Amino acid sequence: MSDDPQRDPRPVIMPHAYDGIQEYDQSLPNWWLFTLFSSIAFAFLYWLANFVTGTVADDRVALNAELAALEARQLAAVKNLDEATLWKMSRNAKTVADGQAVYASLCFSCHGPTLAGIKGVGFRLNDDLWVHGNTAMAVFGNINEGIVFEGKPTGMASQKALGTERVAAVTAYLLSLQKEGAMRAINRKDEPSQSTP
Ligand code: HEC
Repeated sequence: MSDDPQRDPRPVIMPHAYDGIQEYDQSLPNWWLFTLFSSIAFAFLYWLANFVTGTVADDRVALNAELAALEARQLAAVKNLDEATLWKMSRNAKTVADGQAVYASLCFSCHGPTLAGIKGVGFRLNDDLWVHGNTAMAVFGNINEGIVFEGKPTGMASQKALGTERVAAVTAYLLSLQKEGAMRAINRKDEPSQSTP
């Protein structure tokens, strides 16, 4: 370095020349080397935290969550619910999560924590067999209006007090476990969760 008293202060020139271009033989300044090595170290740690250990949340995860929340708000604002909207809701992570929360607080006591149903209390909701209608709108209606069978109210009371948005969300949660077009209709006496195995 230039502050070395032994050293000739004139720059040393390398003996070779390429296309008439000559090269100095100087050591790189420490601040420059420090920047180089610290960016290499940073890149390595960044790669480790983002892609290997996953300590730092991936931007795509955060972005997808934001987009789902946005779509969920748009869907919730739809005035006239229909099959297509309910199925779309059932593929939206935010709506499904909201619906799952409703299920966990209000439905699991009769339909079971795993949706498998409870004999004599509530029907199974995680299979493809539906007693009171095998469409998205029928499921929504059953939850919203409650279920009357042969003129008598059943244990399934109207959940209208929740408001359309939350009834739609819990419907979407149930539909998220179904394949569109593959819900099958069965008779009430054939509901598997209620028959003796
Ligand atoms: C007090 C108990 C009880 C609670 C709480 C309850 N249900 Fe039910 N649910 C029932 C019963 C009983 C039936 C079957 C009605 C019948 O007897 O035909 C039923 C039926 C259903 C059906 C129709 C199933 C089919 O095969 O067609 C759906 C959908 C449903 N419930 C969803 C819900 C949701 C969502 C909630 C929470 C918001 C909920 N239930 C809360 C008792 C309950």
